Amino acid sequence: MQAAKRVASLCAAVFNEMEVLKRQVEARGMKVINLGVGTPDRPPAPHIVQAMHRALDNPQNYRYPLEGMPRLYQAVAGWYRQRFGVQLDPASEVLVLMGSQDGLAHIAMAYIDPGDIALVPDPGYPIYACGIGLAGGEIHPLPLRAENNFLPDLDSIPPDIARRAKLLWINYPNNPVAAVAGLEFFTRVVDFARQYDVLVCHDIAYCELAYDGYRPVSFLQAPGAKEVGIEFYSLSKTYNMAGCRIGFAVGNPAVIEVLARLKSNIDYGVFQVVQEAGIAALTGPQDCVVENARTYQRRRDILVDGLARIGWQMPKPRASMFIWAPLPPGYSDSRQFALELLERTGVIVIPGTAFGSCGQGYVRIAMVQDDGLLEEAVQRISSCYDFTA
Ligand SMILES: Cc1ncc(COP(=O)(O)O)c(C=O)c1O
Repeated sequence: MQAAKRVASLCAAVFNEMEVLKRQVEARGMKVINLGVGTPDRPPAPHIVQAMHRALDNPQNYRYPLEGMPRLYQAVAGWYRQRFGVQLDPASEVLVLMGSQDGLAHIAMAYIDPGDIALVPDPGYPIYACGIGLAGGEIHPLPLRAENNFLPDLDSIPPDIARRAKLLWINYPNNPVAAVAGLEFFTRVVDFARQYDVLVCHDIAYCELAYDGYRPVSFLQAPGAKEVGIEFYSLSKTYNMAGCRIGFAVGNPAVIEVLARLKSNIDYGVFQVVQEAGIAALTGPQDCVVENARTYQRRRDILVDGLARIGWQMPKPRASMFIWAPLPPGYSDSRQFALELLERTGVIVIPGTAFGSCGQGYVRIAMVQDDGLLEEAVQRISSCYDFTA
């Protein structure tokens, strides 16, 4: 049976290559330390789990959940008001998603026709480009470079491309480059979107994993943002609920309506037990969020400070669960270095090129293991390499 052409190019070959090598390394008896996939390793706070336990006993929660519970919509609006000072109408400006990935994938289907152009960061979280590709759209890559603080240079987009573009993806705090953006940049994005009639989609999955007192801002705080775009938020990272599959799209009501209409033909919503957990997370005590960020900050310091001691320098991210590490001295190929690192030390990191060609020269390190394992990763790397010479 022949699969459709659109699925043929879906998986980056390097992931298969790393999986094969990982098995070989394990077969040699070496325990792999996986700093590859960005999946939270910590549990949700007890009050969130308890809310889920209580909801499990309610027989009403086993029906099709459809569009979602009004109390959850109010909780999202309340959270946005408290956290960002952004006002949202729960009835028309919020949509519950089966994890933000659900929305990130489907928004392309809702707005991109075959041949339409979308502006997509390179490197970027893979679903942006993947969703556009599945919808038959064309990608105009926006390079994210260190010299530009990893912000896209909107002025460098040729006007004919900008005029044809229908959708612009942005994502701060960013995966994979771990950069942040402020209101000045978001305001510039609003101007650009108005000038060229482009839908802005901002992914803010990592806004609560921020360090050294830094507080990320929402795209919707920029004046006029709601006229041109939507934002995708996720409970996966903030509350360690990745397996629950719950997230939201918020912002422009016309866009929310189109996305909701598309989704109503595809799925039947988020399990109400999970929605109850979401309400508990958003409206309950937030000290678990502070404690979570503190944990990632400590992990960041173990890795960055530890690797600096052997001469592998990398900037400390102000937010996100990743370190975007320039390759150490003597290396220029991300794939080759990541494979060698796995082979020699059993530590998995992702080559920057897995996120786009502009990721060449970097690897992404996910801070998803506890302090002890991260110290062991540093120790293993230190015993195999010395870049201080
Ligand atoms: C930038 C970014 N956005 C969205 C997601 C998906 O989040 P969710 O679990 O809400 O689907 C991820 C997951 O790793 C991510 O890195």
